[in-house]
Amino acid sequence: MDYYDALAALGVESAHPGGFEMTQTWLSQIPFERGQEVLEVGCGVGKTACEISHRFGVAMTAVDIRKDMIEKAKARSIAYGVNVDFLVTAKHKLPFRDAIFDYVIAESVTVFNPIVTMLQEYARVLKTNGMLLDVEMASMAPLPQDVMREFRSLYHAIEVPTISDWKKRAAQAGFNDTQILLSGPVMPSPSDEIVANPMLHNMPNGIGRIIAENQRVMNLYGKWLNFIILMARK
Ligand SMILES: C[S@@+](CC[C@H](N)C(=O)[O-])C[C@H]1O[C@@H](n2cnc3c(N)ncnc32)[C@H](O)[C@@H]1O
Repeated sequence: MDYYDALAALGVESAHPGGFEMTQTWLSQIPFERGQEVLEVGCGVGKTACEISHRFGVAMTAVDIRKDMIEKAKARSIAYGVNVDFLVTAKHKLPFRDAIFDYVIAESVTVFNPIVTMLQEYARVLKTNGMLLDVEMASMAPLPQDVMREFRSLYHAIEVPTISDWKKRAAQAGFNDTQILLSGPVMPSPSDEIVANPMLHNMPNGIGRIIAENQRVMNLYGKWLNFIILMARK
């Protein structure tokens, strides 16, 4: 059982900084037009993809590497009555031709992967002038090795760039005009109560242990982290 198994088992709906409220904030600033082609990468259980489809009438596609997430996302789209094409994808290779999407969306996905590789793949499938919108963690300063070791072990993150390094990675991947729409501290309320809650430790399949571990790491290191909403044009 790892962090992503726990998210899938619990069906966590908005596993990114700021949750669904943050999604609503950036959604209100994007001029989606009916019929545009929109891709979400790392859609999890599909809440954002269903919301975009429902609100804007775009042609919505969403992918995740986990079959269990995609199954839950498909069930959600049926319940919502929206038409989203949910697909399982290979890890660093999107199953699409070049230059077919107007927007690529990712919420808390890119940072858990080789970042430039992922950004290059987003750029490949975007049309010229297409837009990337990515909600991610950024570090306030380069992270000490012991902190990075914890992030690697729990989230499999290879690096957590600073805001200026995120902009550099986007430029390396071929994006122009990179802007930070919003950023701020990832302020988890430190909660030793959660970490110590005996009920968690009795949950089946080690799920509670992962939740407690996530809270422990955030209690300790949340102060090193910002969230960013990065927008970049191909
Ligand atoms: C922290 S969760 C965020 C899920 C969702 N975006 C949300 O905000 O609730 C990260 C998700 O990205 C998926 N993921 C990680 N790496 C991926 C990749 N290379 N391609 C597609 N999906 C990926 C994971 O399986 C997981 O569902």
